[in-house]
Amino acid sequence: MKALDDVSFSIEQGEVVLIVGSSGSGKSTLLNMIGLLDSPTNGNILIDGTNTTTLSDNQISSFRNKKLGFIFQFSNLLTDLSVLENILLPIQIAGSELSSEKDAIDLLKAVGLEDQVYKRANKISGGQAQRVAIARGLINRPSIVLADEPTGNLDSVTSQTIVDLMKSMAKKLNQTFVIVTHDRQHFGEVDKVITIKDGKAFQDEEASTMEITV
Ligand SMILES: Nc1ncnc2c1ncn2[C@@H]1O[C@H](COP(=O)(O)OP(=O)(O)OP(=O)(O)O)[C@@H](O)[C@H]1O
Ligand SMILES: [Mg+2]
Repeated sequence: MKALDDVSFSIEQGEVVLIVGSSGSGKSTLLNMIGLLDSPTNGNILIDGTNTTTLSDNQISSFRNKKLGFIFQFSNLLTDLSVLENILLPIQIAGSELSSEKDAIDLLKAVGLEDQVYKRANKISGGQAQRVAIARGLINRPSIVLADEPTGNLDSVTSQTIVDLMKSMAKKLNQTFVIVTHDRQHFGEVDKVITIKDGKAFQDEEASTMEITV
């Protein structure tokens, strides 16, 4: 059985794109394909002009570490490390020299956590942890930040602050976000909404056939 069939769309830099649809419709499958964690049996995923479907496994890992940022439902912080150390991890993994501790602290300021820099990651609240996850997702200045239900574990008020933060970071940094969410109402106006239904994608209510070009 196909989880997704004939799905194709393009995303421009700086856009906030939502992927919505009922449980089991294929949202995470689609996000994992854009995130190069899963590969389509047919078709292409182009990111920044690179056809990722032609890359080797090593090239995919390297591309993912350098060009993509991830935010999950649970913040997945390493609890033995400080907030700052968690944010520096993607830099170390990518072997990137583009970002530094100063960038990490600047991002922590931008997400409102300048007073939590040296705190251990298990000593902060769920909402704060998701702010750290956002900063961690942004540290490598990725082409796309991919988020799978980033507010799925938060209360309504905290969800709204996290949504507002992602939207404001998108604007401030001209940063592309692709977000799977059950929380459509908290997002208000966004650039694109892709609805997955029965493994097919519909963009902003219009049926469309689309290659994934990001
Ligand atoms: N790699 C895969 N290949 C084929 N089918 C898959 C694969 N991964 C998941 N599925 C199936 O595809 C369907 C969509 O799963 P997916 O996890 O993408 O749904 P979802 O929309 O994210 O659901 P939820 O809102 O519950 O998280 C499910 O029936 C699932 O069992
Ligand atoms: Mg899912």
